[in-house]
Amino acid sequence: MTPAISSQHLSKTYKFKGGSVQALDDVSFDIPEGETYGLIGRNGAGKTTFLRITGTLLMPTSGTALVLGFDIRTEEREIRKRIAMVPQESRPLYFATTEQLIDGYLEMRGMERTETRRRRNDVIDELGLGDVRRRLVSRLSGGQRRRVMVAMVLASDAEFLFLDEPTTGLDPIARREVWAAIGHATRDRRTVLLTTHYLDEAEALSAHLALLEAGRLRVEGSPESIRARVQLPYRVTLDSSWSAEELASYGTVAPLVNGHLLFTREKEAREIVQAALKRGSQVALSPVTLEDIFLQLVGRPLDEETEAQVEET
Ligand SMILES: Nc1ncnc2c1ncn2[C@@H]1O[C@H](COP(=O)(O)OP(=O)(O)O)[C@@H](O)[C@H]1O
Ligand SMILES: [Mg+2]
Repeated sequence: MTPAISSQHLSKTYKFKGGSVQALDDVSFDIPEGETYGLIGRNGAGKTTFLRITGTLLMPTSGTALVLGFDIRTEEREIRKRIAMVPQESRPLYFATTEQLIDGYLEMRGMERTETRRRRNDVIDELGLGDVRRRLVSRLSGGQRRRVMVAMVLASDAEFLFLDEPTTGLDPIARREVWAAIGHATRDRRTVLLTTHYLDEAEALSAHLALLEAGRLRVEGSPESIRARVQLPYRVTLDSSWSAEELASYGTVAPLVNGHLLFTREKEAREIVQAALKRGSQVALSPVTLEDIFLQLVGRPLDEETEAQVEET
């Protein structure tokens, strides 16, 4: 089966007055067809750059990618017909209603009028947008607006949807409503490439994930296979009756507000839990979360903000 995306040594360097940034550095991996794929990484990791290149909005500096079997450098027309993208922080036209926005998008893509109406009505029903169909999109809440944007690309005949951080900045309830909307694409067996810096979101929605860090591909695969690669697969939280020095021999220790977080192996996990119970201190043991794996791999949490690194040339 042709992968939805086959990224082949993709690199991108942005050059500007006074410096340059390598946003992607020799990135190679495949995205399977017919599933939701999560591209994760903190701000500045290169996620949007990857989407813009594979969405044929931007040329790579070197390397290439095949999207649905077509080369991004030479066959962008073939690709554009088959994909639909919701860019990061995109804001729909302010003077349009939900219906007008979806209709306008579909007509722009060349869909004829009866088909446009039919698909628009179907998607409004499916996503439960009936009560906002004649309201101005500018008056909707952030969550409703993002759902309308997802509805717009879902209503299209694109077989491959690109969603760049569709839930960033939304409250937890609105995020889950957008997740439900994205779920409809999977039911249609369409491919979705989703970027996010929320690991719970990536894990809830995607069959496979790739983690970018500073333009490099750090890990890739199913959540289970990513978990299996971790050296210290257990997390133990302990209260402040322990010192970091005492815990250091058991694994890797990180500070918490009221104690410590220890990453460790199974044998050491058992030992420390027993010792803690004997001491009468608070202890909790669980398998590592994806967030922990990220912390182990890159040493900082995923949602931590960092300044873009500018290299002098
Ligand atoms: N047009 C641009 N010009 C210069 N640098 C850019 C441009 N777009 C992105 N960058 C830089 O490239 C890096 C990757 O950015 P981006 O792909 O937007 O990451 P993400 O979407 O993961 O936050 C960052 O360091 C960013 O500052
Ligand atoms: Mg981005």
